[in-house]
Amino acid sequence: FAEPGPLTTPDWWQPAAQELIERSALSAPCYVYSLPRVRESVEQLRQLKSIDRLLYAMKANCNPAVLQSLERLNVDFECVSIGEIERVRRVMPQLPANRILFTPNFAPRSEYAFAFKQDITVTLDNLHPIEHWPDLFKGKNVLLRLDVGAGKGHHAHVRTVGQQAKFGIPLSDLDDVLTRLSNAGAKITGLHAHTGSGIFDTTTWLDNARMLAEIATRLPDVQVLNLGGGLGIPYEEGQQPLDLALLEKGLADFKQQYPQFKLWLEPGRFIVAQAGVLLARVTQIKGKGERHYVGIETGMNSLLRPALYGARHRIVNLTKLDAPLAWQATIVGPICESGDKLGETVLPVTEEGDVLLIADAGAYGAVMSSSYNLRAPGQEFVFD
Ligand code: LLP
Repeated sequence: FAEPGPLTTPDWWQPAAQELIERSALSAPCYVYSLPRVRESVEQLRQLKSIDRLLYAMKANCNPAVLQSLERLNVDFECVSIGEIERVRRVMPQLPANRILFTPNFAPRSEYAFAFKQDITVTLDNLHPIEHWPDLFKGKNVLLRLDVGAGKGHHAHVRTVGQQAKFGIPLSDLDDVLTRLSNAGAKITGLHAHTGSGIFDTTTWLDNARMLAEIATRLPDVQVLNLGGGLGIPYEEGQQPLDLALLEKGLADFKQQYPQFKLWLEPGRFIVAQAGVLLARVTQIKGKGERHYVGIETGMNSLLRPALYGARHRIVNLTKLDAPLAWQATIVGPICESGDKLGETVLPVTEEGDVLLIADAGAYGAVMSSSYNLRAPGQEFVFD
């Protein structure tokens, strides 16, 4: 971990956190989500006038209230498993199938059959399904996820393009896929490319658009170019946010050149990351030389990102927000792994029972949690 920057808290945390603390409801660690903040992110994305359809990559946060709030904003849903499809269907029983996109990878035949049966559009990511299960594709419209461009993102684990990544149809397989889909009686109505996650370089989505458009000129039925997700958010002080105005400028130019295509975007993180925090009480403190280990009641079982990617989240002592900063602290959880660290930060003198706030935990937090060590992860609370 590098030195942390100066401390801030998300501007919306106060009402919910304060209420939870005051009611002493914090008997367990918890995630708190702000629906107003979710809506604010969607409003920001609506500045991208050239994007015809926003799909929410619900893998980032599948809390029912979050899903419902997005449905009301006309955001559609990108699902990667039957579990995710069932979740949107259960939470929003009236949602029509055409508001769901299914993007499986290395999923069994039964999952494709399930989605097609419900008239959900599927993005094909490999030759295997059409080579081995052509019967499923008769009369279906599909999107093709292509392995084009260069993988980008905040960590090697989240770069999804190139030979080292398992995703996407390699261009060398494209002709074979096209022939087989045509023989099976399927139509390719869209092309898709997703580069990775946590990206700030706006050329990423413009390059995807251009590369897909080139390929689409050979494919008469393609009307949609899905540029993927991956829009980064600043986790650290001083980090610049993604320049949406610049992205829109490029997209608008692209659309002038290729007015025939509808553009889709499928962000996850951008919509929910800054709308969530993780709150946890301090359990114990340990001094080792200059270093203060501040233990909290949950760790990598609730928030895996620091351990898995070295991800950095700002952390503050919510109970002593106005106290002077005094300690260089390593925040650790109660899990039996040396990697069970939530981050490095500067804290005021901190005591057992204080509540720490871990910021920007709304994306890939609760969804990636586990009961490792048989410790229940933080529960979720939502306020509107
Ligand atoms: N579309 C596709 C096909 C994807 O694979 C993903 C994310 C997204 C959209 C949404 O990406 P986003 O806009 O959220 O970056 N657990 C990691 C992130 C994994 C992303 C996986 N795919 C993390 O915590 O950073």
